[in-house]
Amino acid sequence: MIPIFMPPEFSPSPQTLINFWLSLLRNFGPLFIILKFFLLIDLRSDTVTRPTPGMMKAMMEASVGDDVFMEDPTVNELEKKVHELFGMEAGLYCSSGTMSNQIAIKCHTQPGDEVICEREAHVYIYEGGGIAFNSGSQVRAIAGDRGRISAQQISNAVNPDDVHKARTSLVCLENTSNRGGGSCYDFEEIKKIRKVCDEKNLLLHLDGARLFNALVARKESPGMYGKIFNSISVCFNKGLGCPSGSMLLGTTSFIHKARRIRKLFGGGMRQTGFLAATAMYALEHHVERLAMDHAHAKQIAETLGTNPKVSTILPVETNLVIFGLIPGKDPKKFVDEMKAAGILLLPISETSLRMVTHLNVDSSMVDKVCTVLKEIR
Ligand SMILES: Cc1ncc(COP(=O)(O)O)c(C=O)c1O
Repeated sequence: MIPIFMPPEFSPSPQTLINFWLSLLRNFGPLFIILKFFLLIDLRSDTVTRPTPGMMKAMMEASVGDDVFMEDPTVNELEKKVHELFGMEAGLYCSSGTMSNQIAIKCHTQPGDEVICEREAHVYIYEGGGIAFNSGSQVRAIAGDRGRISAQQISNAVNPDDVHKARTSLVCLENTSNRGGGSCYDFEEIKKIRKVCDEKNLLLHLDGARLFNALVARKESPGMYGKIFNSISVCFNKGLGCPSGSMLLGTTSFIHKARRIRKLFGGGMRQTGFLAATAMYALEHHVERLAMDHAHAKQIAETLGTNPKVSTILPVETNLVIFGLIPGKDPKKFVDEMKAAGILLLPISETSLRMVTHLNVDSSMVDKVCTVLKEIR
């Protein structure tokens, strides 16, 4: 039996100490883990959310079937709901945003083609070299403005019809832009980009992992996007708070091809209606509330602006706050100081850090973050 309270004069052997901590963990471990979860404010990403009780209930009550046989009623219902919402012909439920982007690129390109995107686009820097690996295509990465590229830049980047050059076949946009700090495209620019694509015979894909954030922030409708893009990927596992899943949208023939490639990539899931039910729930309950995440992000950015350690903050348009520290200040130390106060941040380069607001961050937590930001000077 190891004593819980040790008298000051008691000097235990190392083995006794190990036993003491092991017994504490054994008896109170789960409690510590639960407490830690509730005490920490996790701003590293909007992918860290836990399903709400309503979402769990929707999961438990979902009707399911084999989705590879296209017999899962909840997946079928979700695909129909989302493609109709965007005014597109068909949808394909995929396990992740990476998978739906990679399937789209595979469908739209031939090996040896060139794909135009911004130099910090997720499809380029965060999908494991997937464009080369899965599609055998190369990337023309353009330096844009906070993750966004213009119609003129795209037009300039298209290769001429020359045997020496790769065939430019696809443009990928990202809205909102992750590395751009949640920046949104100006819809007029997207229309110009579509025009360039039509003139130059290019297809246009949208990585809309956080498209719902853009729609809420800009007061735009899904249908506006459905009319413009050849394919769209929207994620449910970010701002919408689902455990997993994304929807790839396009024409019926595109989705037919995409379904084959999803299987080829090992992405054919079976009774995945349990997950699709979370997306159905989120579309009803978690879209409008994104405006609150955006307000929270702005509040955090305003307080950050008063911290003398902070040099730059990217303009906040949605739920991401990306900032840099003044020369000589170590981002890792800043992260550690915040962590000691129960707040988790993500360093995203040698000089910059990220905070993301989401479903599991409420106003009182944001107030606490701001208080801590005022103290860490
Ligand atoms: C812009 C963007 N696209 C795609 C993805 C990939 O999504 P997933 O993590 O579901 O593969 C992410 C993930 O953070 C993202 O930020």
